Parts: sequence; structure tokens; C-alpha cells
Amino acid sequence: MKVRIAPSILSADFGHLADEIRMCEEGGADVIHLDVMDGRFVPNITFGEKVIASARKATSLPLDVHMMVVEPENYFESFAGAGATGMTIHVEAAPHLQRQLARIRELGCLAGAAINPGTSLGAIHEVALDLDLLLIMTVNPGFGGQEFIPASVDKVSRARRLLDEMRSHAALEVDGGIARDTIQKVWRAGADTFVAGNAVFSASDPKAEIEELRRICLETV
Ligand code: DX5
Ligand code: ZN
Repeated sequence: MKVRIAPSILSADFGHLADEIRMCEEGGADVIHLDVMDGRFVPNITFGEKVIASARKATSLPLDVHMMVVEPENYFESFAGAGATGMTIHVEAAPHLQRQLARIRELGCLAGAAINPGTSLGAIHEVALDLDLLLIMTVNPGFGGQEFIPASVDKVSRARRLLDEMRSHAALEVDGGIARDTIQKVWRAGADTFVAGNAVFSASDPKAEIEELRRICLETV
């Protein structure tokens, strides 16, 4: 399995967003993670279509949009038009999950489902084959820089088993508190895609940090 590092621009300097994204690309990032928050699903507000379009101009890397919003379907077309490569919606905000995932694929994007720490994996079981990505939140969403929830490691192992049993080829992503001291545990549990905000952007050398996170996963003990 390949280690995919997805820096979250939530922790970037928005005054120099294009430079920050280019820096991640030069550092070997595999994906750019964009956190859209609406002040309703989560208490915080971030950005929408315009910032996605600016990110699209700055890089040719895949843009994975993590939608922490209610009624995410209201934004599918505009985000796809702005250049999103994938859209990940929260099952807690998606009563018609199968239809919503199918719509994301219809728009030519990769379809992802995210689950909060308090949500059981059962919530995605029936849609395992409709997924290109499963995002296990390893913090409660809303803010960068929070502490990794240790019980997530076991949940990631169970998610890996579920995807394998269902013969799903979905990426298994973790998001929240991913850093040097946590990444190897979730990699060994079966995650392959790692969102990192604070760990990358607060590092003295963000480019080197991307490589370091990847190296730690692959290091043998
Ligand atoms: C949290 C967001 C994350 C956030 C992660 O609600 O979904 O993507 O940027 O930040 P860190 O890596 O700082 O925990
Ligand atoms: Zn995120």
C-alpha cells in the first residue's frame, strides 16, 4: 500500500495560499485537503467555491474537499465546477447518503464519506461499494490542531476489515491530530491517506515534514 499525505490548508497562511499549496506540491504531497465548514454542521466557518477555484489554479494535485456542512448536495455542482477532484460528505449530515454519493460520481468526482468519532462504522456498511474514499475522523471536526483520539486506531482496523470484506477499493483516510507520534499507528491499522494540517504548516520545514511523515509510516521497528 502506498502512503498518501494530504496537507490540510486549514492551517496555511491564507494571505499566501497559492505559495503554501505550491510548497506542499514541491514537498511531495499526494493530495491537497480543503476543509469547508459552514458554521452549522460544525461551529466554525472557513471557505467555499472561490478558494477551491484558487487552489485549482495553484496546483495540478488532486483537490479533496472535506465538506463539514449541512445539505452538502447544495454545493456539489459548484465545487465540481471550481475544480474539486473529490468531495467527502459527513454521514451525519447525509440522510440520503447513497444518492448523494452517486451524484458526486456523476459529476466526475471521487465520492467520499466521513464519519465522526461518535459514529459507528455501520453507518457506511451499506454504501461501501459507492465509496472512493472513507474518512475516519480522528478528532471531532471543526478545528485544526486538536489532539488525536486514541480509540480511533481500533476503529481504523475495523474499517480496513470492512472495506476488504466488501472488496471495496476505497482509500481509507484519517483526519485530525495526525503527526509524527500518531501516524504510524493508523498506518499499521490500515489507513493509507493521512490528512495533516498543524503538523505540516507549523513545522520549521513543511516540505521536509511531509517526507518525514511518510518515512515514519514505512520505517520498520
Ligand atoms: C478538522 C479538519 C482537519 C484539520 C486537521 O475539522 O477536518 O482537516 O485541518 O488539522 P490537524 O492536522 O491540525 O489536526
Ligand atoms: Zn478535514
